[in-house]
Amino acid sequence: MTDQPAATARVTIDPDFGLGTVDPRLYGTFVEHMGRCVYTGIYEPAHSTADAHGFRGDVAELVRELGTGLVRYPGGNFVSGYHWEDGVGPADSRPRRLDLAWRSIETNQVGTDEFLGWARRQGVEPMMAVNLGTRGIDAARALVEYCNIPGGTAWSDLRVRHGARDPHDVKLWCLGNEMDGPWQTGHTTAVEYGRLAAQAGKAMRQVDPSIELVACGSSNAEMPTFGEWEREVLHETYDEVDYLSLHAYYEEKDGDRAGFLASGAQMDAYISDIVATADHVRAVRRSRKRMKLSFDEWNVWYQSRFPGERALPLEETPRLIEDTYSVTDAAVVGSLLMTLLRHADRVAIACLAQLVNVIGPIRSEPGGPSWRQTTFHPFALTAKYARGTVLRTEVSGPLIETRQYGPVDALDTATTLDPETGALTVLAVNRGQEHDLGLRAALRGFASRYRVVEHLMIADADPDAANTEENPDRVTPRPVRETRVTGDGELEAVLPPVSWSVIRLAPEDRA
Ligand code: AHR
Repeated sequence: MTDQPAATARVTIDPDFGLGTVDPRLYGTFVEHMGRCVYTGIYEPAHSTADAHGFRGDVAELVRELGTGLVRYPGGNFVSGYHWEDGVGPADSRPRRLDLAWRSIETNQVGTDEFLGWARRQGVEPMMAVNLGTRGIDAARALVEYCNIPGGTAWSDLRVRHGARDPHDVKLWCLGNEMDGPWQTGHTTAVEYGRLAAQAGKAMRQVDPSIELVACGSSNAEMPTFGEWEREVLHETYDEVDYLSLHAYYEEKDGDRAGFLASGAQMDAYISDIVATADHVRAVRRSRKRMKLSFDEWNVWYQSRFPGERALPLEETPRLIEDTYSVTDAAVVGSLLMTLLRHADRVAIACLAQLVNVIGPIRSEPGGPSWRQTTFHPFALTAKYARGTVLRTEVSGPLIETRQYGPVDALDTATTLDPETGALTVLAVNRGQEHDLGLRAALRGFASRYRVVEHLMIADADPDAANTEENPDRVTPRPVRETRVTGDGELEAVLPPVSWSVIRLAPEDRA
């Protein structure tokens, strides 16, 4: 190593400190009928790379590289006004509808069968949402019948007639979306929503007992009903549902970049609060079931730049919230993923919102190229390497003062251990903006010595650097060759300011 950093953060990595197993559904994403996520995002029949079904081949390739294993669909706010029947059957007789959520014209050229066909070809698990805004029990159970019953009933036979001979077999279902939000079509109270969700869920499970259900938690932790909403909803739904949802979007506010870089602290407290609330309901109900969480919308989103849906002109496929992400945003996304990993004991599902164009890690131009945003890289590399058991690591090192969250560790980190191969993956963010940060991780209690396989880093002299159509690879992960395991069995690395790293270690006695 060359220059010694001024400050060092220390952790201990011990195989006995397992806190949970990474559910692969933690690396989910989200496709909503919003802006250009579907049309000219994943789907563009006139594009030179389009497949026989009209889906873009270049975007499909990037989705594969991103490594997402689960995709939520079709909304989002969109689902609360959606008639799923509009999106099935012959495409040329599907109605053009006014979508109230985003004041857009929905052509319905992509619907249930097209999306689920795409998901199957992509090798991703679908997570479907039903409309509990303008519709209810009957439309929800009909959709499950359409998707999951092999045949011999009106809705399943209709699917077969539409060309989908085999059932789609969708296992994961969201009972509505953000029903606590005044912006939501059909916004309601926790008790009313909870009763409807329980009854819709019951009917859906009567159609297919193998499905899993997600009830809506709060739209974010700042909602006035936060906490009470979860308590009341869970009181109504506890026995019927398998997961409670969380949503959160982060952005730099009032120039507080230190606070933005510490967004994981907010996510961490948010998850802990919901775990406590769910466990309170469990205790009151004397239930043995421990509710799992589905963080099915999270990302960096510059919401302050969004004019609000009422200000939008009525258009088909408008450009909505196509945020361009920077190195700083990538560090925050990487850090939020670490927070999710550190709650792997309760958070089973998480969806980066969204997948393409609409605050997506992938961007595409109509008739043009597609490229990876900066945030693509921490997601793809975490999804690829952070598998197995999450190990508890306590950081001891310098703190950073933030306006929003008080003092936070300069080092944000998470470690996973692959029990099969013994491979360790250490993820690390230096939240500091000025100085390099030393990382020293004592590898304790392992039978083998470890070696560094690879250290990849996102960092840049300009923390606002971004990837664009003209310069799509301005920010890419680059290898760091100086990182090593010392003779004393300590991983030693230097993390530049506002950087994200993945450090892969393998036992020396394994190839
Ligand atoms: O992802 C964009 C929107 O954010 C979703 O439609 C909604 O659920 C959330 O408020």
